[in-house]
Amino acid sequence: MEKKITVLPGDGIGPEVVASAVRVLQAIGKRYNHKFHLSYAVIGGTAIDEFNNPLPDETIAICKESDAILLGAVGGPKWDNNPPELRPEKGLLKIRKTFDLFANLRPVKAFPSLLGASPLKREVAENVDLMIVRELTGGIYFGEKHRTDNEASDLNIYTRKEIERIVDNAFEMARLRKGRLCSVDKANVLETSRLWRQVVEEKKEQYPDVKVEHNLVDSVAMKLITNPEHFDVVVTDNMFGDILSDEASVITGSLGVLPSASIRGDHFGLYEPIHGSAPDIAGQGKANPAATILSVAMMLRYSFGLKEEATEIERAVSAVFNDGYFTADLAKDGSRSLSTNEWTDRVIIEIDTNFVAD
Ligand code: NAD
Ligand code: IPM
Ligand code: MN
Repeated sequence: MEKKITVLPGDGIGPEVVASAVRVLQAIGKRYNHKFHLSYAVIGGTAIDEFNNPLPDETIAICKESDAILLGAVGGPKWDNNPPELRPEKGLLKIRKTFDLFANLRPVKAFPSLLGASPLKREVAENVDLMIVRELTGGIYFGEKHRTDNEASDLNIYTRKEIERIVDNAFEMARLRKGRLCSVDKANVLETSRLWRQVVEEKKEQYPDVKVEHNLVDSVAMKLITNPEHFDVVVTDNMFGDILSDEASVITGSLGVLPSASIRGDHFGLYEPIHGSAPDIAGQGKANPAATILSVAMMLRYSFGLKEEATEIERAVSAVFNDGYFTADLAKDGSRSLSTNEWTDRVIIEIDTNFVAD
């Protein structure tokens, strides 16, 4: 198979974790005889520095030519006081909107060998396997904004169509998994949430095989760490999904292991870790590349239909953890902590050894 991938390293640890993920992608390509053609382009702070634009037209044009996008992270203190249009995050929001990537899939699965790094008790975290389906191109992120010195507002707006398509996506996801869907809202206060709940209620007639529940977001924030096993598919709006997914990363032991896929219903997609540019550890070789490597696995599965290759990456990552190799975020006692590159080497050795064993 031949595929074109646009690589957007971004800022902070973005380039470090993306370099690791690309090495793993190429190792898989070599083993399974696929050609992945990579085009690099700029986004975020790096793009602001070079083009005074967080998402230059050149970058959009390159993405349009490709089958999928791999992104690191954007942002950093250098650009934090820039005007809204010249913030790195604006580039990320714009690329999601430009390509209509309305469904953000954020799987949260416990790795048995990481449970020691989770602040949760082993018995609470060990069987967690959930999927957050976050609406990504609507809501308060994209509503009209207003600001004077004395007043500011962000409009939270959702159309029925926007809710229907993400809810359909989540029902279908639940069907492929354990058949349970938890819709998360704030319907006791927000009109957007009341429409959201109504749409889920209407839609559930079409999916009688899926067990549906509605939950308020504040209570889900609590249940997610007291009884995370309760959840299978969680569907929610843009902002609630952003917050709950960082919270859910605590279950696994590190924000550095959670991947994501942003898709729109065809084969195109953008793949990125859920974490940010981690300015506090950037440039030190300390970043955990697992989330970005696992995002490549999601790309292979969702955009290219390469299930075996995706599973092989996931197996290798898991095996490296099982062998006791960790980056600093997970090596809590400080011993056996590998650099980003050393840890990536272990993953590639694991993949290569598996092939030799065949
Ligand atoms: P962050 O996710 O960058 O970092 C939060 C904490 O987790 C930090 O202590 C960091 O060191 C740690 N961490 C994150 N990823 C890690 C990894 N792979 N390995 C080891 N440790 C890791 O969140 P933040 O500090 O709130 O934000 C920093 C910048 O990133 C901001 O500018 C923010 O807007 C941006 N951001 C970007 C994205 C994105 O590009 N998708 C996502 C979130 C935040
Ligand atoms: C994420 C990030 C982004 C978001 C920011 C950087 C715009 O936090 O991808 O989770 O809020 O969507
Ligand atoms: Mn986030």
